[in-house]
Amino acid sequence: WVAMVTARAPTNIAVIKYWGKRNQKLILPINSSISITLNPHDLSATTTVAVSPSFTADRLWLNGKEVSIEGDRYQNCLREIRSRATEVTDPKTSRIITKKDWESLHVHIVSKNNFPTAAGLASSAAGFACLVYALAQLMGVRERYKGEISSIARIGSGSACRSLYGGFVEWDMGKDDDGKDSIAIQLAEEKHWEDLVVIIAVVSSRRKETSSTLGMQDSVNTSKLLLHRAKEIVPKVMVEMRKAIKERDFATFARICCADSNQFHATCLDTSPPIFYLNDTSKRIISMVERWNKAEGTPQAAYTFDAGPNAVLFAPDKAKACELLSRLLFYFPPASDKKISSYVVGDVDMLAFKE
Ligand code: DP6
Repeated sequence: WVAMVTARAPTNIAVIKYWGKRNQKLILPINSSISITLNPHDLSATTTVAVSPSFTADRLWLNGKEVSIEGDRYQNCLREIRSRATEVTDPKTSRIITKKDWESLHVHIVSKNNFPTAAGLASSAAGFACLVYALAQLMGVRERYKGEISSIARIGSGSACRSLYGGFVEWDMGKDDDGKDSIAIQLAEEKHWEDLVVIIAVVSSRRKETSSTLGMQDSVNTSKLLLHRAKEIVPKVMVEMRKAIKERDFATFARICCADSNQFHATCLDTSPPIFYLNDTSKRIISMVERWNKAEGTPQAAYTFDAGPNAVLFAPDKAKACELLSRLLFYFPPASDKKISSYVVGDVDMLAFKE
């Protein structure tokens, strides 16, 4: 017999960035963060987890290729879920799988993401959120406190904890040494700010040169600016950002979002050796949005960049999103050397002008 569960989880885009850990193993951050979870049909991971007495080892396939499951991050997530497994009646076969059975049963995990291969966007957030959620469903894990499952996704990849919820999500850094209170909390659901449009401008599909994990480790060890940001600045902007989201105040949202992205990249430059995630095209996108916002006297669009050169842009509504797209097309024409293959997420149709 085989029992299985399939789940899907979208990726999320941070508007107040997580950068830096105070505990590497438990992935506890040095500051809280806020993100927007994308629609599940946009950029997401789909994972099937199965158990059967005939499986002789835990195994994992990512996008059609078997990969090792021995890494600490997978092992830590598996261990935490297994330790919380409860008796489950498989809905298909009515077979009862006891708490004791879970100790000896092996899992097979098949995961794939629907990110356009050219997108070069991080997939670990969606991947770990999906894996942990699917395993928890399969093994009958019930949260003993709100956010417990997000705290398990967190030990897979920090940003993954935020993908357990839709809409606007805060990752509370927490205070405890064991990480129990370092969990994701939904600030507002998907429907809260339906007009907001997210556009991803794919500037480069190349793998980032410095991974987030290693980059933030170097920043914690060498950047004084990062500590100042985490202690003095982020706690204040968290309060303002929560309010801006609650009130759907695009002007404040845009101002904080752009400033936070720029400050995050400033801490990367302040790292030794310095980390450069933005490229020439990323910087031109920033200038384009800044000039537009200045000319209109109020924010028309916002930008944010993670650990790579691709831009995530926000527009307050569909009309502004279309205007933003036509500006992108004008400034970055498909045939130019400043190439963007633009992937549009949200209600606006996908628009791809390929490299
Ligand atoms: C710049 O969550 O990928 O996207 O916890 O080491 O797996 P690990 O790092 P990861 O870092 C994400 C960094 C970021 C900002 C953010 O998403 O908040």
